[in-house]
Amino acid sequence: MCGIIGYSGPLEARKILLDGLSQLEYRGYDSAGIAFFDTGSEVHLIKRTGKVAMLREACASMKVSSHCGIGHTRWATHGGVSDANAHPHRAGRVTLIHNGIIENYHSLTKEFNLDERLVSQTDSEVAAWVLDHFYSGDPKAAIKSLVERVEGSYGFCIMFDDRPGEIYGVRSVSPLVAAYTRSGALIASDLTALIPYTRKYFVVPENHIVKLTGYKISLYDLEGAVVSPEIMEVNWNMDSAMKNGFPHFMLKEIHEQPEALKNTIVPRIAKGLPDFADDKIPDHLFAQCSKIHMIACGTAMHAGMVAKALMEPVLRIPVIVSIASEFRYGEPLIDEETLVIIISQSGETIDTLAALRLAKSYGSKTLAIVNVKGSTIARESDFVLYTHAGPEIAVASTKAYSVQLAALYMIICRMALVRGKFTREQAASFIMELLDAIPAMESMISRKEEEKNLVTHLIQQHDTFFMGRGLDYAFSLEGALKLKEISYIHAEAYAAGELKHGTIALIAPEVPVIAIATQEPVFSKMISNVREVKARGAFVILLTKEHAQVDEALADVHIRIPDMDDRFTVFPIAVILQLIAYYASIGKNLDVDQPRNLAKSVTVE
Ligand code: M6R
Repeated sequence: MCGIIGYSGPLEARKILLDGLSQLEYRGYDSAGIAFFDTGSEVHLIKRTGKVAMLREACASMKVSSHCGIGHTRWATHGGVSDANAHPHRAGRVTLIHNGIIENYHSLTKEFNLDERLVSQTDSEVAAWVLDHFYSGDPKAAIKSLVERVEGSYGFCIMFDDRPGEIYGVRSVSPLVAAYTRSGALIASDLTALIPYTRKYFVVPENHIVKLTGYKISLYDLEGAVVSPEIMEVNWNMDSAMKNGFPHFMLKEIHEQPEALKNTIVPRIAKGLPDFADDKIPDHLFAQCSKIHMIACGTAMHAGMVAKALMEPVLRIPVIVSIASEFRYGEPLIDEETLVIIISQSGETIDTLAALRLAKSYGSKTLAIVNVKGSTIARESDFVLYTHAGPEIAVASTKAYSVQLAALYMIICRMALVRGKFTREQAASFIMELLDAIPAMESMISRKEEEKNLVTHLIQQHDTFFMGRGLDYAFSLEGALKLKEISYIHAEAYAAGELKHGTIALIAPEVPVIAIATQEPVFSKMISNVREVKARGAFVILLTKEHAQVDEALADVHIRIPDMDDRFTVFPIAVILQLIAYYASIGKNLDVDQPRNLAKSVTVE
């Protein structure tokens, strides 16, 4: 949450900062601001509530030139959405931007007598004043003192009035990446802002100070000793962070799923079998565990729910899925024999990270499924399986979900093989079926008009219910989340058999029910549940396989996916559910890519 960018170099800084903020806007979009040194070394500050476009407009008439500055796009935590609360914050000789939460801001305010000085309600401004208090010409010493006093999570980028051309960064928990490029030195809260300039970067280590100037980047520990950064390379390209002719990132990312799946699966197949040798994931990790505990948030947690439904019948060991924010404050029943699988697109979600740390403290082995290379979760886990979705910009997760599923399916297959639950032939055929899910997704994407047409009814309603049994229930959870977050229509997912234990009271004429019925063993049970809601007047959108035998009078809309093995229907079904949410959002004329109150990476509690 909150996007951060800093630049020092030969190019016009204002343009680089504004372009960077546009790239980072998905991290928060209630206000934005930049601060920069002009060529006479004076600091200019401009900030606006609203989107980056408003800030860009406000900057358009500025004539001053600059080669060094910092920029911020905000997702409000402390203090409402106002110009004063927008970043950067000025405090004496300090100009500062912040991503995270300073937990002891109240006691710092008292200790440093800041009440009279504060012009905003933010914890970040408090940190800026504390830094100014310690500053007497030595930036690194002042930053060290600040770090010793603040509690919480932070990624700070800082300019000092008497150090034109220099930017300093420091972080704890909240992410910061930096790069020295042919265009100058850059620092940002995430990679998408760097890829227009470079693919090589480093993650600023926690409790280290990074210094950017126009001609180099230096990294120091808190004692001031020089540290060599660990340079990493990402294979994302500029195209992957652009809309490329699509009206929204979400639609583009839905279309990218087949390719992302191939990139995640194919390099991990050797002789027809799943192979994690290149990922350095040893078979004993899968052979020796007595149970599996998956931990994640939101969409990533829903991917875990699908995997659980598939794993237990195959592996015959307990598989538990936990919401990270609950797990981290619990007393989990895990031990050295538990394989903990952490799922996170960003690799920075704070609750998921805390859950990972807790799991490690219990001695469990941890395997992370992560999309962003070098992210904190990836670095702190014992093993990592990177998904290859490329950057996901839309707040609503689509391609990250399908590649998380693909990675989990590969893990299930390898585990089943290693534990003697699959023969080599069964494992090879499982992988073939997984690959066959890719054209099934493509076919659903090519038929997207079906979803476009059906939302006319949906968007006139206040509530929507999703239902399914077994794997289909796990898919419904994600369908409901997607619809809620971008169309603001209340949606709930139910195990179909559970509906009549209370919720069926809400089924009235015209209430939409999206019924997923792709699982053969429970198909007839599902159809009975569909009859029950239809009998109460529901508007039924039924999703089945191509050749399912259904009384057509049961469904107001019937979408058929290609015939396929039950275990893989999630891939085409996910596309349908994503498209329903997408077109519902469009139908209501909402901001698809940046829905209200949300941000892409949840790096605060
Ligand atoms: O980056 P993560 O996968 O850890 O993010 C977890 C959730 O915040 C995320 O999946 C969220 O639920 C989706 N963006 C919703 O579409």
